[in-house]
Amino acid sequence: MLENGNQRGKFIVFEGIDGSGKSTQVRILQERLKAAGVYCDTTMEPTGSPIGSLIRQVLTGRLKMDKRVIASLFTADRLDHLLNDVNGILAEINQGITVISDRYYFSSYAYQGVDLPLERLIRDNEICSDILRPSLNIYIDISPDVAMERIAKNRFQQELFEKKAFLVQVHKKYLEAFAKLKQEENIVKIDGNRSEQDVADEIWIEVSRLLS
Ligand code: ADP
Ligand code: TYD
Repeated sequence: MLENGNQRGKFIVFEGIDGSGKSTQVRILQERLKAAGVYCDTTMEPTGSPIGSLIRQVLTGRLKMDKRVIASLFTADRLDHLLNDVNGILAEINQGITVISDRYYFSSYAYQGVDLPLERLIRDNEICSDILRPSLNIYIDISPDVAMERIAKNRFQQELFEKKAFLVQVHKKYLEAFAKLKQEENIVKIDGNRSEQDVADEIWIEVSRLLS
């Protein structure tokens, strides 16, 4: 049964380095969509599935794995995120629900792309892009310095990928991946070094355009 007539829901993805303000903006966008009468759901990667839990153990350093294995886990987690029977994204989109995800395959291109070839990561994730390409990728761009300040203020322990030199490389890889895929992907870049409200207002303009 379709929740909003006969249309598929939109798939809106937030991307950005750690601390860029993604989860803050996911929350604000969900509130605005609900107020506008749009059926929507929010989700994130890594997910809460068994594969996602395994990934979190790697991120916190409890488990050690080769980088190629980690990259494969992220892709497997994403595929399950799309397809699983309980709360898979694809089923929701097909029911007409708009889904907002905190991260999707551009995170693999940017983070795993620091150590592995971008081409290979894109190829490995084709299984996901063939199933569902985001209607819109919202990239919140902030400088790694600002990101580190925000992370330091708010977290007790730093995860594997939150070291500044690493975030500088991730930031670069995001831009490389966006340039490479600009024909096939719908990407908007938002300046995230501003107040939460200013960032949210610009995102709302982009999302309203998508929904109109
Ligand atoms: P992410 O999900 O991308 O890691 P968060 O939304 O958790 O980022 O934001 C990281 C921290 O920065 C949080 O403490 C949040 O309150 C704060 N924050 C988010 N957006 C802004 C902003 N535009 N200006 C200043 N601080 C922000
Ligand atoms: P999380 O605590 O959710 O960070 P954030 O709130 O900044 O999104 O941790 C997710 C971490 O996993 C983050 O450092 C990015 C990393 N990641 C990858 O390296 N590859 C991926 O494909 C995904 C989805 C996330």
